[in-house]
Amino acid sequence: MSQKKFWDNKWNEFEADKVCVADFATAFEKKPWPGRKMLLDLIGDIKGKDVLEIGCGNGLLSVYLAQKGANVTAIDNSIVSVTKTEELIKYNKADSMVKAYKLDAMEIDKLGRVFDVVIGEHVLHHIGLFSIFAKLLFKIIKKNGQGVFLENNNRNPMLMFARNFLAGKYGIPKYGDDEEFPFGLEKIKTLKQNFNIVNTYYPEFIFFTLADTYIFRSPGIIRNVLFGLDKWLYRNFPSFHKYSYSQIVELKK
Ligand SMILES: C[S@@+](CC[C@H](N)C(=O)[O-])C[C@H]1O[C@@H](n2cnc3c(N)ncnc32)[C@H](O)[C@@H]1O
Repeated sequence: MSQKKFWDNKWNEFEADKVCVADFATAFEKKPWPGRKMLLDLIGDIKGKDVLEIGCGNGLLSVYLAQKGANVTAIDNSIVSVTKTEELIKYNKADSMVKAYKLDAMEIDKLGRVFDVVIGEHVLHHIGLFSIFAKLLFKIIKKNGQGVFLENNNRNPMLMFARNFLAGKYGIPKYGDDEEFPFGLEKIKTLKQNFNIVNTYYPEFIFFTLADTYIFRSPGIIRNVLFGLDKWLYRNFPSFHKYSYSQIVELKK
């Protein structure tokens, strides 16, 4: 299935006119998931800052950041995503703080402005012409600004084998479209050719939990054990972190 169709279908299911972002924020702040938490810790106090979210999906992160006081521009190349984000903005009365546009990441220069923070969750690995994109990204970040992206990671050979040869076959589901490819060192190298500082972080170890999602699809108790195993490995084996399916890329000029 094409990337656009896949995401249009996914966002169509989101009931944007029923989601109270403040409730979501309370739930998240009580029990934050590690990737989003590290992303937000890296950007720090966002009040009054100009933020661009690339690949805003259902708009939840953009509206959340607006409620924290940021002036947010949200873009996505799926019209359904943008329509849902607009509905979410309206329902949460965040109109004055967030604007959503249908725009491809390869056209961010068309916004005609620069940002303190450019943020994205699971979007960079969808972008094909990455060296051109990296140059555009550099242009739209302010001098003391920052790019922060939560991404997947292609450095674990076992996960990549499972993704390439098992997902979508033998009754194993495939989540994701046909045009994406997990984020890896070659794209980080491209970013390093453009930005002075490129940091990578691994907010959690995702391995057994992912295997469970795809292959075992086990009942709660086994899943909890596998989740615990990932947590234990993360705590005790820092050298394994780079094999996690989750990473954060931070960019500074
Ligand atoms: C994996 S989803 C992530 C959505 C959201 N950030 C989240 O974490 O829930 C990827 C999103 O990026 C959008 N996208 C993919 N390629 C894009 C591009 N080249 N320009 C803008 N948006 C893109 C898709 O339409 C989709 O909404």
